Amino acid sequence: MSFKPIQILSIGKAVPKAVITNDDLTKILDTSDEWISTRTGIKQRHVASGDENATTFGIEAAKEALLKANLKGSDIDVIVVAASNPFSVYPSTACCIQEAIGAKNAVAFDITAACTGMLYALEIGRSLISGGKYKNVLLVATDTNSKFVDWKDRATCVLFGDAAASIILTEASDGVDDILGINLYSDGSVGKNIEMNFKGDNCPLVEPSTLGKNKITMNGKEVYKFVVQTLPDAIMKCLDDVNLQPKDIDYLVPHQANYRIIEGLQHRLEFLDDKVIVNIDKYGNTSAASVPLALYEGLETGKIKTPSKVLLCAFGAGMTWGAAVVNLREGLNK
Ligand code: ACO
Repeated sequence: MSFKPIQILSIGKAVPKAVITNDDLTKILDTSDEWISTRTGIKQRHVASGDENATTFGIEAAKEALLKANLKGSDIDVIVVAASNPFSVYPSTACCIQEAIGAKNAVAFDITAACTGMLYALEIGRSLISGGKYKNVLLVATDTNSKFVDWKDRATCVLFGDAAASIILTEASDGVDDILGINLYSDGSVGKNIEMNFKGDNCPLVEPSTLGKNKITMNGKEVYKFVVQTLPDAIMKCLDDVNLQPKDIDYLVPHQANYRIIEGLQHRLEFLDDKVIVNIDKYGNTSAASVPLALYEGLETGKIKTPSKVLLCAFGAGMTWGAAVVNLREGLNK
């Protein structure tokens, strides 16, 4: 329960220019557009090139959100970055963004909750503002999966893409709370289903290095089974907690990991197509950036009209998952 109400002020995004289509992937993998499209809904993904990385995308997304909110970097009190494969563990991506946007007054730190990262960040941001000590909180989700997938593992690498997205929260001066509810979950007992380790090497005086580069590994079937068993209940619980029913929701903005999972949620909620935001065909799974990027694009393309009530949901490595219900105010991001 919030002590101070929260306003969602703006949303930003950054997407790499380079696009890799499913047909492009057939040059390096035994795969096909048909297999990838029918199993996942993905047609292409954007990937980093040159000096681009999770930090550069995070900075770009943060700058756009500042611009849209009509704020300066120095107005920001806290920066929370959700990044599961950052450019550097330290300095944190949040500290790098702080420097780049001139947020000299901000406390800055990273969190890791994989694809659920932006929902976790939303809960942290809301709590920090609610407590009354901080006013403007910048949330950034950024991941460059293309640098960490094993490009020989066709069951995993075809699923992912790179992107960043950002949200600025502030204390609502009109008393209206834009965050109606957030429910988060974690279950480390099934963590082995998706892994990316930073195992490092022991001291060479102890034993010689045995490690190759760290890569994402995933048991896709198990992840799929886990998600279809847990996410619908999490969504219904979140709605229940805020005394809403599916019919009260204007749009579903789900994590873009597999179109079949999105379709299942849509059927469970009995939503028509125009209430569900889908951009997995263009971007693949962009991890923590996935939900806010879809939200941004829903607003940008006019598919999401404001004011509206939106259900967000996500799942990811950990495993982590969750759902949130938010209000989008009239004219948000215009
Ligand atoms: N192209 C062609 N064939 C392929 C490919 C490919 N890219 N990948 C796998 N195959 C083959 C397999 O080798 C297998 O062949 P076999 O039957 O001869 O052994 C066959 O296709 C079927 O493979 P399955 O793994 O059974 O395929 P499935 O229908 O389960 O789909 C998928 C796989 C798309 C990965 C699905 O399980 C899925 O989407 N799981 C959820 C994954 C997910 O959402 N991850 C996000 C986690 S979020 C985060 O935090 C990272």
